[in-house]
Amino acid sequence: MTHSSPNAANAGTFTIGGDLVVHRLGFGAMRITGPGIWGPPADHDEAIRTLKRLPDLGVNFIDTADSYGPDVSEWLIREALHPYRKDLVIATKGGLTRSGPDIWKPVGRPEYLLQQVHKSLRNLGVEQIDLWQLHRIDPKVPVDEQFDAVRSFIDQKLIRHAGLSQVSVDDIKAASKFFNVVTVQNRYNLVDRTSEDVLDYCAGQNIGFIPWFPLAAGDLAKPGSILDSMAGKYGAHPSQIALAWVLKRSKVMLPIPGTSKVAHLEQNVAAADITLSEEDFAALDAEGRKAFQAAR
Ligand SMILES: NC(=O)c1ccc[n+]([C@@H]2O[C@H](COP(=O)([O-])OP(=O)(O)OC[C@H]3O[C@@H](n4cnc5c(N)ncnc54)[C@H](OP(=O)(O)O)[C@@H]3O)[C@@H](O)[C@H]2O)c1
Repeated sequence: MTHSSPNAANAGTFTIGGDLVVHRLGFGAMRITGPGIWGPPADHDEAIRTLKRLPDLGVNFIDTADSYGPDVSEWLIREALHPYRKDLVIATKGGLTRSGPDIWKPVGRPEYLLQQVHKSLRNLGVEQIDLWQLHRIDPKVPVDEQFDAVRSFIDQKLIRHAGLSQVSVDDIKAASKFFNVVTVQNRYNLVDRTSEDVLDYCAGQNIGFIPWFPLAAGDLAKPGSILDSMAGKYGAHPSQIALAWVLKRSKVMLPIPGTSKVAHLEQNVAAADITLSEEDFAALDAEGRKAFQAAR
């Protein structure tokens, strides 16, 4: 059952890079932009209200990127939450360029990445970025050059910690020769288990694993489905059960459900109160794997 006042603290904590303690249920700030993650949101005031509600709900980990809008997401975070609370950790990313709605092209040249780090510092109004993630490895640029650039951002103290996004275990191992990889952000949810090996590797190394699109459940969320019946059993919404499953899957899991609406935010944070039984977790796991295999 969910409590009347949800709090992300109920999901427990994870320490990123040995010194940044966050509540495991975070917030993804990609959805506070326009359609196609392009331009301003349809409802600016609701987006600001959503962001301002985060501290009340115990959410102290926000994920964004220079490319969300572009810039819009970082600007709105600053507008709503600056000056920042000491316990707030803002993770941003760089390495994807935007030339229109839904268009995302990687550029990993070191001078471009450096420019974007400086832009994120200015957009967010901080002297150092808590966690900066290479949004994509650019296949057109030697990978060592990209990883060496990230290392230099840490050396220059422009960023405190660095992470990767959409990578393989081999990519993490290669990057680790240049810098301490503290987080990995890959697409992962109940019915997309492509990154199961990456998650297991992260768990073994105590690297934070940030699953994006964590709410997705495909057909498993339909009326009469296993999620639907679990939702009835726990007095919750199917998307909350999907989130509770992700949270229980691993101690290094840091889901960042994204929304532009206060009501959806409150509903998502309430998932931190749901503790699935081992039996229900296993049943959901089996159905999720089955759906994943069937869709391949
Ligand atoms: N590293 C990467 O390449 C990458 C790629 C994509 C995303 N991300 C990050 O991951 C975060 C989450 O990913 P995501 O936004 O794709 O997936 P998500 O959080 O699983 O789903 C977001 C979608 O679900 C809706 N939603 C959220 N809460 C809801 C609720 N309680 N009830 C009904 N609908 C709800 C949102 O619309 P409303 O606004 O209407 O609530 C939005 O359309 C992003 O914000 C971003 O920070 C990273």
